[in-house]
Amino acid sequence: MNPLNHVAIIMDGNGRWGLKNKNSRNAGHKAGLITVEKIIKETIKNKIGYLTLFAFSTENWKRPKKEINYLFNLLENFLVNKIEDLHKQNIRLKILGLKKFSRKLNKLLNNSEKKTSKNTRLQINLALNYGSKSELISAFKKIQTTKTKINEKNLNRYLQTKNIPDPDILIRTGNTKRLSNFLLWQLAYSEIFFEKKLWPAFNEKDYNRIIKEYKKIKRNFGKI
Ligand code: IPE
Ligand code: IPE
Ligand code: MG
Repeated sequence: MNPLNHVAIIMDGNGRWGLKNKNSRNAGHKAGLITVEKIIKETIKNKIGYLTLFAFSTENWKRPKKEINYLFNLLENFLVNKIEDLHKQNIRLKILGLKKFSRKLNKLLNNSEKKTSKNTRLQINLALNYGSKSELISAFKKIQTTKTKINEKNLNRYLQTKNIPDPDILIRTGNTKRLSNFLLWQLAYSEIFFEKKLWPAFNEKDYNRIIKEYKKIKRNFGKI
């Protein structure tokens, strides 16, 4: 049975779910947040140490302002209402991506990270304004300015995922088979599960089915 330390998820399909069920993309984002809470609970139950959630990409700024504002409001409210609860559950929150939001949200994110930084039960990495290409470019720039050798170990040190093991599993919901600029380096050997269901419809049962399937996979890492 494969050990499972890290699950990464591209939470896709909120907009389509919202349009289909509530005639509004934003209603899909709201419903998607309920799935996030379910999956956090189930991750703890499965004793998985790291959960990385792709919530907003560097490319998502191309969306209408109304949708972007709605998404960040949702996030703000979630943090205000839930960070104490996450902290009590010994959960650490870490942001991947560049914190270039409103002053209020930047502060809230920094405070949430700081408050929970010593927690050990589960680390949630929230990828927000995250893009893998820009992460890699920054890492190479740091290597260049510090004149360190270009090798895997040094590159890992300058990525935002420093000290985080690579994902064992990548799940993408929403019936689309692409990576959309997510963790391109870190996913080199992950087991990938593309799910037809839209994110708000994804549930504990689907998650546990994937975990069960993953555990049985013969992971070769180049060997036979
Ligand atoms: C993913 O759902 C969530 C974000 C990118 C914020 P989408 O909003 O991309 O939903 P679809 O793919 O349009 O249905
Ligand atoms: C990927 O979903 C980003 C997140 C889930 C946050 P998108 O819906 O933005 O991806 P594309 O644009 O369809 O590839
Ligand atoms: Mg999408």
